[in-house]
Amino acid sequence: MNKYAIVLAAGKGTRMKSIREDVSKVSFPILGRPMLQWVLEALKSLQLDQIVTVVGFGGATSEEIAKPYGEVVWQNEQKGTGHAVMMAAPVLEDKDGVTLICCGDTPLLTDKTLAALLSAHETNHNALTLLTAVVDDPHGYGRIVKKDGRVERIVEQKDCTPDLDAVHEINAGVYAFDNRELFRHLSRLTPNNAAKEYYLTDVIGMFVEEGLKVSSFSIADVAETMGVNDRYQLSVAAKSMQRRINKRWMLHGVTFEDPETAYIGPEVKLSRDTVIRPNTYVLGKSWIGHENIIGPGTYLENVRIGERNVIQFCHMTDTIVDDDTDLGPYFRTRKGVHIHSHAHVGNFNEFKNIEFGEGSKCAHLSYLGDANIGEGVNVGCGTIIANYDGVNKFHTDIGDHVFLGSGTTIISPVTIGDYGFTAAGSTINRDVPAHDVGIARARQENKPGYADVLHERALAKKNGK
Ligand code: UD1
Ligand code: CA
Repeated sequence: MNKYAIVLAAGKGTRMKSIREDVSKVSFPILGRPMLQWVLEALKSLQLDQIVTVVGFGGATSEEIAKPYGEVVWQNEQKGTGHAVMMAAPVLEDKDGVTLICCGDTPLLTDKTLAALLSAHETNHNALTLLTAVVDDPHGYGRIVKKDGRVERIVEQKDCTPDLDAVHEINAGVYAFDNRELFRHLSRLTPNNAAKEYYLTDVIGMFVEEGLKVSSFSIADVAETMGVNDRYQLSVAAKSMQRRINKRWMLHGVTFEDPETAYIGPEVKLSRDTVIRPNTYVLGKSWIGHENIIGPGTYLENVRIGERNVIQFCHMTDTIVDDDTDLGPYFRTRKGVHIHSHAHVGNFNEFKNIEFGEGSKCAHLSYLGDANIGEGVNVGCGTIIANYDGVNKFHTDIGDHVFLGSGTTIISPVTIGDYGFTAAGSTINRDVPAHDVGIARARQENKPGYADVLHERALAKKNGK
C-alpha cells in the first residue's frame, strides 16, 4: 500500500507571542533543530512514498526546512487544520493509500510510534486511526468523546462543555487516514465552532456517522504527544528531548556528570568512555571520540574531537582536535582550526584558521589567525598574529620547533623557518630564516640615578612649586 504524510505547519503560533512576522512557530529550535524538522526526521525514517508539508505563516522559513523532505504547499490564510489539509489536495487527492497526518509542533513524536500507528491502521483495516493519550492536564487539547468504548467524535478545547472539560483522553493530532476518504470528507467541513475554523477533527465525527471504521490507538509514552503552543511548552519539550538524547548516550557508555546541564544535539556522535561534565553543549555535526573529558562550561559546534583530550571551559566551532591534547580553560576557536595531537593550549587564547602542530604549546593570552604552525612550537604569552589590514587577510608560516618570545607581534605575511626564534616584545614583519633569532625592538638604554630625578620632579609638581 502506498503511504503518504501531511505535516501541518502553517499555523500562526499566536501563543508564542513573537514580534517577528517572518518566523513560523514550527521553526523554533529544540537543541539546534527546528521543531518541524524533528517531525520530518521521524517521518523520513518510515520511508513513505511522499511527504507534503503545509506552510503559511512565516512560511519561507518553514519551506526551507521542509523542502529537502518532499513537497511543500502553501496555506496563505490560516483557516484551521482541516483547511490546511485541503491545501495538499492537488498533490494527493486522487491517490490510493494511507496518509499520516501530523503537526509540525509535536517534536517529541518518534518514528516508532508513527510506525505502530500505521501498522495498527493496516491490521484493523480502518478508514481512520487516531493517536490518543491519557494525560494529567488535558487543557488545550481536543477531547476524545467515546460511546460504548468507541470513538464518536473530537471536541476542541474552545468548544468544551464542563463535563467534556473533565475528559483526560486527548487527541494527539496524529492520524492515519484512508487517503481517498480523507479528501472526500474535507470538502464538507464548515467553520461552525468557537474558533470559526475548519477543524480537521470534525472529519472524525463524519466518518463515524457514515459507518466508516474508526479506532483510536493509545500511546504508552504520553510525553511524545506533547504539542508546543507557547514558550513554556517549548522549554518542557526541549527538556524532554535533552533527557531522551542523554539517556541514549549514557546507555551507550558515555558518562554525564550532570545530564540536566549537558545539551547534546541530534546530529552529534559521542563515543564510549568520554565524560561530559556540567554546563556543556555539543551541537551541530560533531563527532567526539573515546575517553575525552569535555567540560565543564564548554560549547562545541561542528567539531571533530579524537581521543583522550581534556577540554575545559572552551568555546570551539568548526574545529578539528586530534588526540591527547589539553585545552583551556577559556580557549576559543573559530572556523578552520586543527589542533594536532599532544598540543597544549591554555587560558585566554583565540585561534582562527590555524594548523597547530603536534606537541606545540600556547599557554596563555594569545591571538593566532591564518597561520600554519609546525610541531614542537612554543608560542609565548601575549603573542599576536596581525593577519588583517582592514581589507585583506594574510597568511603566516611558522616552522617546526620555533620559539616565539612573549609579546611577539607578527605582521602577516611572514615565514619563520624551523628552529627560528623571536625575541620577547618583537614586532616581526620580515621573514626569520631557520635557526635565526629575530629581534625587532629598540635597544635598551639605562640612565643612572635618573629615577630619583623624575620622582623629585613629580613631587614638586604636586606641591605646586
Ligand atoms: C490541534 C487539534 C487538537 C489536538 C492538538 C494536538 C484541531 C482543530 N485541533 O489543536 O484536537 O489535541 O492539535 O496537539 O486540529 N495549522 C495549520 N493551519 C491552520 C491552523 C493550524 O497549518 O490554519 C497547523 C499548526 O501550524 C500546527 C498544527 O496545525 O502545527 C496544529 O494547530 P494548532 O493551532 O496548534 O492546534 P491545537 O489548538 O494545538
Ligand atoms: Ca498545537
